[in-house]
Amino acid sequence: MKIVLFGGTFDPVHNEHVKLARGALKELSPDKLIVLPSFVPPHKATACAPPEHRKKMCGIAFSFDERIEVSDYEITRGGNSYSYLTATHFREVYPDAEIIFLIGGDSFFEFDTWRHPEIIAEKTEIAVVSRGEFTEKLISRNSAFEKKYGYKAKLLSFRGDGTSSTYIRYCLMLGTPAENLPEGIADYIEKNGLYRGDERFEYVKDHLKERRLKHTAGVIEYALKLNAKLKLDREKVVLACVLHDVAKYMRKEDFPEFSVPEDMPDSVVHAFLGEYVAKNVLGVTDEEVLTAIRYHTTGRPAMTELEKLVYVADLLERNRDYSGVNKLRKAVEEDFESGFAECMRQGYKHLKQMLQDGGVYHLTADAYEYYEKNQENLTVK
Ligand SMILES: [Fe+2]
Ligand SMILES: [Fe+2]
Repeated sequence: MKIVLFGGTFDPVHNEHVKLARGALKELSPDKLIVLPSFVPPHKATACAPPEHRKKMCGIAFSFDERIEVSDYEITRGGNSYSYLTATHFREVYPDAEIIFLIGGDSFFEFDTWRHPEIIAEKTEIAVVSRGEFTEKLISRNSAFEKKYGYKAKLLSFRGDGTSSTYIRYCLMLGTPAENLPEGIADYIEKNGLYRGDERFEYVKDHLKERRLKHTAGVIEYALKLNAKLKLDREKVVLACVLHDVAKYMRKEDFPEFSVPEDMPDSVVHAFLGEYVAKNVLGVTDEEVLTAIRYHTTGRPAMTELEKLVYVADLLERNRDYSGVNKLRKAVEEDFESGFAECMRQGYKHLKQMLQDGGVYHLTADAYEYYEKNQENLTVK
């Protein structure tokens, strides 16, 4: 008997998960594919649907093939969903079966840092689903894997396309229809009131257009992705990102007490007005969050980490598709600080080219000069 284990948070399950299951059924021809929604400790993610709902959604999304079974093993076990415990459990239940453990490409690179990877690699066989091409990096990672665990992981030819549950969750919280949900899932979410945002999300939803809401969801998603390394306060990151463009379609004339210098370009005003609204309408008091909103467009010299994060995520979120965006994404994902400086440099050059009849706004110019100098200092050291 051949069994494939397919774990994940499925928060919510999306089309990519379904495609992946189809791909695994086709490529590995198992007798059974077991979908395992993981238990997520309540304090770990703020926007997380309760496990019983995630399981039920999996039941709906994976009902297309009799070989697929949705197991509540990890949910019932509770605690951290350590894969070595899952591998051990299924090895005990199916002592003679060939058991294949599916993992994502990113996870494959981090596999050695998991709890007891040797147990997982021994009790089951690892198969990897990657995003994009089989890169040299992936091939050499597999050689290192072989050296350590005694066999090469199977590399599935199915490719993920980067659909993300995090992005879908924030789209839903911002009330913009989420794409990439399997049939029946949007209804289920609606009926059960899942993924609802708080009053600040509601406010943003009422004041932005669809495209801007998707952009905002993308900014939150990308900032959280980068924050896995930066480890800033998650709530502050989400709050600054969700509010960063809140004033995009507001008029400063509607806020008589709000004032900015006469020479401030309209494209910059929304950031300052956004801060004003966050503070005076929505009651945000956290200075770090407020300045991250204020400087998300211009930047400034000596930015805080949160300011840099919102600045960068605003430029590089998934809906941005200008030429060179992938290169910048790669740069910040590899090294946040130098990637950020590169974003600042490119942004400044772009503005310089565009604004033929006037200079770049002084805050941006100051920020640019500051970070160029900073880079030089770094190089001299
Ligand atoms: Fe903006
Ligand atoms: Fe933005």
